[in-house]
Amino acid sequence: MSCCQCQGIESFFNKKVALKELKRYHAQGPNKTTRLLVEALKSAGVDGLTLLDIGGGIGAIQHELMDAGVSRVTSVDASSGYIEVAQGEAEQRGLAERVDYQYGDFVSLAPAISPAHIVTLDRVICCYHDMESLVGFSSAKAQIYYALVYPRDTGWFKLGVPVLNFLFWLMRNPFRIFIHATREVDALVRSNGFKPRFTGRTLLWQVVVYGR
Ligand SMILES: C[S@@+](CC[C@H](N)C(=O)[O-])C[C@H]1O[C@@H](n2cnc3c(N)ncnc32)[C@H](O)[C@@H]1O
Repeated sequence: MSCCQCQGIESFFNKKVALKELKRYHAQGPNKTTRLLVEALKSAGVDGLTLLDIGGGIGAIQHELMDAGVSRVTSVDASSGYIEVAQGEAEQRGLAERVDYQYGDFVSLAPAISPAHIVTLDRVICCYHDMESLVGFSSAKAQIYYALVYPRDTGWFKLGVPVLNFLFWLMRNPFRIFIHATREVDALVRSNGFKPRFTGRTLLWQVVVYGR
């Protein structure tokens, strides 16, 4: 992948980090915001639907939603380490045959990715510089639900991000964190024909499930 941020993603979200996260997932299940997103989709009804999970990491959303009746998944991730670990976990659970794994930057791959009933981006928007393309292309792929977890654009996250990015710069890692304006993300999703059906918040994160 040629983009600088994607090279940073590949080195920051490496296999060692993915295995640590998998261990935590086995011990504690999905984290709080992922649980909120999954529960909101399950209450809306996912039986027989398809899922496009962008930046799915170790695959928590994919595994939880396949257990709840999602039929097939396309998993697009810019980290080869995360894809390898997600695939290994799906094999352990007997789910791997229902998942098509695509390695790369979703924005570059988008023209070749099929639409799905549900599209999810859980803590992905903050890892990417070009929010307009990421959210614009991905929401256009969603036929029924579009579900996001991303940072609130106020408070501690906003104050802490320049410090974290300075640390990445010191470590010579091109990876950066981005706090995109909630107003702009929301306007873009609505312009693709969606309205919020569920919203949830923690101190740092917001969860929004949109429906057509
Ligand atoms: C913070 S991790 C979140 C992983 C998982 N969704 C979770 O919440 O535990 C961000 C993930 O998004 C992926 N990612 C970021 N930008 C991406 C892009 N443009 N295309 C595909 N994957 C992307 C990274 O490789 C990584 O797996």
